[in-house]
Amino acid sequence: MHLKDKVALITGAAQGIGRAFAQALLEKGCKVALVDLNVEVGEASKSAFDKEFGTQRSIFIACDVSNEENLKDAFKKADQHFGKLDIVVNNAGVNNEKNWEITVQINLISVIRGTYIGLEYMKNKNKCSEGAIVNVASLAGLIPAAFQPVYCASKHGVIGFTRSIAMFSAAENYGVRINAICPGFVNTPILQSIEKEENMGLYSSHKQDIKDMMEFYGVLDPSLIAEGLIKILEDDTLNGEIMKITTNQGIHFQEYSPLPFQSRKL
Ligand SMILES: NC(=O)c1ccc[n+]([C@@H]2O[C@H](COP(=O)([O-])OP(=O)(O)OC[C@H]3O[C@@H](n4cnc5c(N)ncnc54)[C@H](O)[C@@H]3O)[C@@H](O)[C@H]2O)c1
Repeated sequence: MHLKDKVALITGAAQGIGRAFAQALLEKGCKVALVDLNVEVGEASKSAFDKEFGTQRSIFIACDVSNEENLKDAFKKADQHFGKLDIVVNNAGVNNEKNWEITVQINLISVIRGTYIGLEYMKNKNKCSEGAIVNVASLAGLIPAAFQPVYCASKHGVIGFTRSIAMFSAAENYGVRINAICPGFVNTPILQSIEKEENMGLYSSHKQDIKDMMEFYGVLDPSLIAEGLIKILEDDTLNGEIMKITTNQGIHFQEYSPLPFQSRKL
């Protein structure tokens, strides 16, 4: 996909990885809808982007992705504002083991919903001839995480869903590629959640263990995750792929055995 003049909707774009995604897409000539719950930080990011790229290139849309109507409205606003949608990045996420239902709601259910809504806007039967959806999972979607079991489950869910729906999208010739990104630890505000009892609950006493893991694996810069996003978007051959980003191997892909019933490259 050539990114110039494409329109992207990014959830959780006010800060952290989502903001880095927005920056990278704006640099490539895209228009971006920044969707986030955090109005103050989201509007500040939009103002900073206005100074660098001009006021017409981005829009901030306040939205709680865990609210179905809110999420549908955000897609509608972005589509109406820019006239189309080409790229959806389901990135908003939380780390909350205490109020764990919220973690499943935001990290998994809203990603599923964002994918379904994105497909409605972008599949061939609609007005666009090509589209891309990228779901943000985590390395915790591929390996166990002893002190974040629900976060881990939510991200495993994102990977299973993404690989499966990508096969369906290909089978239906929707013209929408769907992939996921799994970063290791990334230097964003979410890392502060491990310090908080209201986020960690039962696992609070293990925050040092998580810090030790960060020390061991290292912490990535959000700009590298954005580089991974651009790679997925620009390579039209990728569908149903799970990109991993780590300090020691950089950007690479999870390898899976071919499925016995897989009749074509999906
Ligand atoms: N930082 C890491 O170490 C790391 C590693 C792997 C994966 N991830 C994933 O990357 C994604 C982005 O995380 P981040 O590190 O940038 O975290 P972050 O906390 O810096 O940013 C998350 C953004 O999502 C927004 N958000 C949260 N709940 C929302 C909701 N209900 N509706 C709308 N917006 C909401 C927040 O306001 C925030 O702007 C998440 O899915 C996270 O799980 C992060």
